[in-house]
Amino acid sequence: MDQIEFNKIRANGRKHGWSLAGKYYKDPAIFEREKEAIFYNSWIFAGHVSQIPNVGDYFLFNLLDESIILVRKKDGDIAAHYNVCPHRGSHVCKEQKGNSKRFSCPYHAWSFELDGSLFAAHSMPEDFDKNDIGLHKCAFEIIDGMIYVNLSDNPKSLENAKRDLAPALEMYDFENMKVAAHKNYPIAANWKITVENYQECYHCAPSHPEYSLSHTFKANPDKFDALQQPMLSRMEACGIKKHEVDKQHSQQEDGQEQYAYSRYALFEKYKTGSQDGEQLAPLLGNIKGFDHGASDFGIGPLTWMLAYNDHVVVYVFTPTSHLTSACDIYWLVRGDAKEGVDYDIEKLTWLWHVTTLADERIIVDNQKGVNSKKYAPGKLSNMEDSIESLITWYLSALEKK
Ligand code: FES
Ligand SMILES: [Fe+2]
Repeated sequence: MDQIEFNKIRANGRKHGWSLAGKYYKDPAIFEREKEAIFYNSWIFAGHVSQIPNVGDYFLFNLLDESIILVRKKDGDIAAHYNVCPHRGSHVCKEQKGNSKRFSCPYHAWSFELDGSLFAAHSMPEDFDKNDIGLHKCAFEIIDGMIYVNLSDNPKSLENAKRDLAPALEMYDFENMKVAAHKNYPIAANWKITVENYQECYHCAPSHPEYSLSHTFKANPDKFDALQQPMLSRMEACGIKKHEVDKQHSQQEDGQEQYAYSRYALFEKYKTGSQDGEQLAPLLGNIKGFDHGASDFGIGPLTWMLAYNDHVVVYVFTPTSHLTSACDIYWLVRGDAKEGVDYDIEKLTWLWHVTTLADERIIVDNQKGVNSKKYAPGKLSNMEDSIESLITWYLSALEKK
């Protein structure tokens, strides 16, 4: 799609405070434009260092046409390589995770060291210099044990995010956590419908009875204000710092990735996001007790983390086609916590499993209606400010492409 055609689509009327036009949720040409503008130009959570503790441990991060190998090298550091053989392009690594001394291409058996350099290629001409060849490197950063990848050759900077989120990240000691559970939820809807749904809680009361029992939501001021002050006054005694980073503020600096941090109260009976309000796992990092609050982190447009005092739930929303997306959820607990002794997987994952299944249902229904010829942008409520911000950011990101 050229710029003139894109301008036509954009100018085709978006009113402030209204949802997006239907074409943004179903047009393959717009989706193509989103690839370079957003998906291959954003920092996305790929996994935690504890998933690859030993030399040769690896897992794949897959996004649309791209597959990235995250691997622990011989020197103990982590590397990220495109899963593309420099011979004739085959995927080199076929298993989603494992341990390997080297990677051997299944097509003609070229083999690669864990650092991506070419180890052996048989029957090559004499002028072939294997030192010039290796797997392509992918940009990645490790922030307190959390591995983020970026598929751009010239990625945005995470420096501001690291600087401004450091005081909050430090309290939880993300570095010494581990992934207790990971689930992938395929969703038959465009990725923006999936992300919009996560961003607003207008739907929480009708769709999430379990969540609504325990969580307040900022955009619902009656409930929020009454619980927020008491929670703030309990925070310090629990070792939680007062800190807030506004997402829109972080979006203002060109060349920097967006990020956010805020804390909000749970209903008083709830120490954490559990069914009965009780503790689910050992307290994290430097946290000394329960202030009956939870923290929201955001890094990039597709990764969110909800940090309770005893566990963290990481959500990664990715497109799988122009009409489908996926939500990956990772439940993190303290690294030394023992399954079956210190935490129970069923109880730990209960809330966000039932909530995500309900979300999937309403998101898919949303896409079905958006596909109709009668769909037209609708007026957003006072509880959907976050959607307005998301749409504003989204349209400007597409425009910059
Ligand atoms: S494509 Fe990998 S060895 Fe030929
Ligand atoms: Fe929801």
